[in-house]
Order: sequence, then C-alpha cells, then structure tokens
Amino acid sequence: MEFNNLLVEKSDGIATVTVNRPRALNALNEETLGELLACFEGLEADASVRAVILTGAGEKAFVAGADIAAMKDLDAVAARDFALLGHQVMHLIEHLSKPVIAAVNGFALGGGCELALACDIRFAGDNARFGQPEVNLGVIPGFGGTQRLPRLIGKGRAKELLFTGDMIDAGEALRLGLVNRVVPPAELLDAARVLAAKIAAKGAFAVALCKEAVNNGLEMEMDKACRFEADHFALCFATADQKEGMSAFLEKRPANFSGR
Ligand code: CAA
Repeated sequence: MEFNNLLVEKSDGIATVTVNRPRALNALNEETLGELLACFEGLEADASVRAVILTGAGEKAFVAGADIAAMKDLDAVAARDFALLGHQVMHLIEHLSKPVIAAVNGFALGGGCELALACDIRFAGDNARFGQPEVNLGVIPGFGGTQRLPRLIGKGRAKELLFTGDMIDAGEALRLGLVNRVVPPAELLDAARVLAAKIAAKGAFAVALCKEAVNNGLEMEMDKACRFEADHFALCFATADQKEGMSAFLEKRPANFSGR
C-alpha cells in the first residue's frame, strides 16, 4: 500500500512505520491520520508482521502534534470529528494484536506525545522532547493525552505537564516513566529493532494475550482483571506454542514458536 505521508518497510517480521511530513515536523493532518488508520489495519491483517516500530522522518521530530494550520479554522463539530479520528488511530494502535514500539527521534508534542502514549513501549533518542502544549494554543489535548498520560505517569505529574504546556527532555521523560529507555539518536532505530526482534521471537499469540490482559485488565476491578487473566492463561493451553514452549524447556532446547 502506498501512502503520501507514511513510509512503511517490512523485514524479518518487523514493520517500521515512519510518519513522513518533515516540512511540518510530521504534524498529523486528516490525511495522515487516515493513512495511519489504513496502515495499522493492514499491519493487523498481515500475519507476517509480528512487531511494529513507529517513528518520524528527519532528525528533528517524531511528531510535533496535530496540524495547527489544518485545525485553526475548524468549527466545533469539525474539531470533534478530527479528535474522534485521532482517537480511532490511537485506539487501533493501543489494541493492535502486535506490540508497537515508538522510537521517539525528536519532538513528541501534543498529538505526537499522544501517538507515542498509544504505543506499548517508548524508546527515545536523547534529543527527544515531550510535552502537551495545547494550553498554549487555547485548547486541550484531543487524542487521549488527558487520559493516557495520567494513567502512565500519575495524575499529579500529568497535570503539571498538561496545565503548563512545558516541554521536558528525554532524561526527565525517563525519570517520569514516560519512556522505557533513552539512547543516542544514532542508535535509536537499532535499539528499537533489537527489542522488536526479541519480542517477535516469542509466541505471537501469547504476546497478544499479554497485551490484551494488561490493557483491558487495567480498566477493570482487580478481581475481574485477575479472572480475565486466568481465562487468557487457560486459552494459551489450546495453542501449539504452549506445548512447544514447555516441551522445549523440559528438553533443554530453544523453543521454536509458530504463533498458533
Ligand atoms: N502543526 C503544523 N505545522 C507545524 C507544527 C504543527 N503542530 N509544528 C511545526 N510545524 C511547522 C512549522 O509551522 C514550520 O513550518 P514553516 O517552515 O512552513 O514555517 C515547520 O514545521 C518547522 O517548525 P518551526 O519553524 O516552528 O521549528 P522550530 O525548531 O523553531 O520549533 C517546535 C520546533 C518547538 C516543535 C515548534 O514547531 C512548535 O512549537 N510546534 C508546535 C507544537 C505544538 O503546539 N503541538 C501541539 C499541536 S495541538 C495538538 O496536537 C492537539 C491535539 O492533541 C489533537
């Protein structure tokens, strides 16, 4: 599939999706959001893809937010439609049955920070900058920032970022738990690929169920969440990967998972 604002590359079971509007620091307009939707729907359906890396084109930005020029003259109804399209994209990424790793290679602001938040794991270059600067524009985050940021880093720290619009550097993002790891920019994609390959070598079905259990369980009461986990655990026993994983351990050999 060809896109105007995305580059997609697949190798060894890993898809790398690059938001590619460097002249606007990869800002998300309606077309780019629509392409992200189509792209991730395609990746979900592609059984050869076992992990996804999401990054931005150029050396300056991951994604510098929703496209301010495209939003400026929206009326309230169109703004709501735009936000709902963004939410659709974030939801699709968050609930993709495959792990999605954000490789944050520069500014991740507003909708860009929200895009990174929708991913499962975030690695950052030490040049990355994070923030939710919407209050500087007279608006609030529209693609889930008021919800995913406090769930990830806690209410008080999220409110400080949301109320001030301040940018933080990669080191501070690491300290807050907003990113998993910080590496030199030149090593960022390789580090993301090493992680993606490590996960891709596991049983894909088990990884998908882990993701589902974490994502859905966190929205439930503890008792229900543990029951949800037990049911997912039981489901693993219907797979060839469970037989292979446990046999391999007992036979003292590496497991060869099929994802079935
Ligand atoms: N939307 C549209 N265009 C953008 C953009 C954005 N979010 N961010 C940057 N650009 C454009 C700039 O307008 C500029 O274009 P021109 O060359 O045509 O003038 C180009 O990208 C380069 O940007 P700068 O010249 O501003 O680069 P800089 O190095 O001086 O500053 C920056 C970099 C600090 C990231 C600055 O561009 C900036 O503050 N960008 C806006 C960040 C922002 O406010 N994001 C939140 C958007 S609102 C949102 O996302 C709502 C939501 O949740 C849905």
